[in-house]
Amino acid sequence: MADGTDTKSSNQMWGGRFASGPAAIMEEINASIGFDKKLFAQDIRGSIAHATMLAHQGIISTEDKDKIVHGLNTILSEIEAGNFEFSRSLEDIHMNVESRLAALIGPAAGRLHTARSRNDQVALDFRLWVKEELQKCEQALTSLIAAFLDRAEEHADTVMPGFTHLQTAQPVTFGHHCMAYVEMFGRDRSRVRHAIEHMDESPIGAAALAGTGFPIDRHMTAKALGFREPTRNSIDTVSDRDFAIEFLSIAAIAGMHLSRLAEEIVIWSTPQFGFVRLSDAFSTGSSIMPQKKNPDAAELVRAKTGRINGSLVALLTIMKGLPLAYSKDMQEDKEQVFDAAESLELAIAAMTGMVRDMTINAARMKAAAGSGYSTATDLADWLVREAGLPFRDAHHVTGRAVALAESKSCDLAELSLEELQAIHPSITAKLFDVLTVEASVASRKSFGGTAPSEVRKQIAFWRARN
Ligand code: ARG
Repeated sequence: MADGTDTKSSNQMWGGRFASGPAAIMEEINASIGFDKKLFAQDIRGSIAHATMLAHQGIISTEDKDKIVHGLNTILSEIEAGNFEFSRSLEDIHMNVESRLAALIGPAAGRLHTARSRNDQVALDFRLWVKEELQKCEQALTSLIAAFLDRAEEHADTVMPGFTHLQTAQPVTFGHHCMAYVEMFGRDRSRVRHAIEHMDESPIGAAALAGTGFPIDRHMTAKALGFREPTRNSIDTVSDRDFAIEFLSIAAIAGMHLSRLAEEIVIWSTPQFGFVRLSDAFSTGSSIMPQKKNPDAAELVRAKTGRINGSLVALLTIMKGLPLAYSKDMQEDKEQVFDAAESLELAIAAMTGMVRDMTINAARMKAAAGSGYSTATDLADWLVREAGLPFRDAHHVTGRAVALAESKSCDLAELSLEELQAIHPSITAKLFDVLTVEASVASRKSFGGTAPSEVRKQIAFWRARN
């Protein structure tokens, strides 16, 4: 109709109080079925557990429960087979399923919603979904860590420049650099595990917000749905989405790690660096410049991180002003989480593939490792150890050696003994042993240091843990 209302009859779920249906624009802003249909399996699983509990407690008859469960399983197959017609006027997944159930089994369907509300129902469905997603992330991170462990093992002795400020700092090994990411993704994974533990409580039975007068058994539904225990406060249960925000925070942190790795891959794969070559499977060509091989997958991983951060900020902002308990604002939680989850899954999988596939150019890494006076600290340490100089003085002497090498456009190891002795008389020919990049990395045996022996210990530690 011209005034924006339609002639549809009032809603079959709450029609008693309403004389007419919603305005078309109301239906459009209100409906969530377009995205929350993703929760169909969780919704049906939750309803089966609820109906089973209701019958066990004598709240509904076994006969009705059997009909409900059979009907719900039929709906599950229909949706899985793509034979289910979702209707926007039925607003969301919960009412789409319940309405179909009524069509399939008749009046018994009306008993399913006893002692529950869509508020605890949606809290349950979404929690189940996020929990499963976290479990997928845990596995994906384990694969990524495994990929890095293999590369680290292969390259425990491969020297490369270590950077600070992206300026050559000290030689490290590529294996050590890989293990830095193992630590980061290992922490991401423990955050994931912790979040699973945190949210392992069943919301169903909180009802609208206050609990219910029916003699339900929330421990029974919690157990049936694989939760450790039921939530302890019905108001909190239907009010908060911190489990979803926790997922997004973890995703944002993992995304930040993935993005730094992506950035390094972009840099390393430039012809100027030439440290790695991406496989054809993880790069693209240019339609105009035939020589190009672009690290598109790495760039997109870097970009997905921006999207994930956006979702985190969006949900924090959606939630921050809401009075307890449920408000419809909370319906906006799902798209943020779905989008971030898809981005994160894709980013981890693409990175795992890239890390496994990329070719390491050890010769280029080694050449770069020696340039930029990367063993200057080794020279200073030698002066401390062998000549007894205080470190600050050794730093000064070394600075003069670097300045001399720079003026002659040569490496530290290319200075003559006489030139070095002119800078400090206690320098002997033995100094040259520590000026090579191999000697430099081998000497850094402190716990967690870059020496290949040390890196191998850390690889063994993570192999046992992964
Ligand atoms: N589609 C709703 C959501 O996602 C379900 C809960 C609706 N509850 C209500 N009281 N209107 O949040």
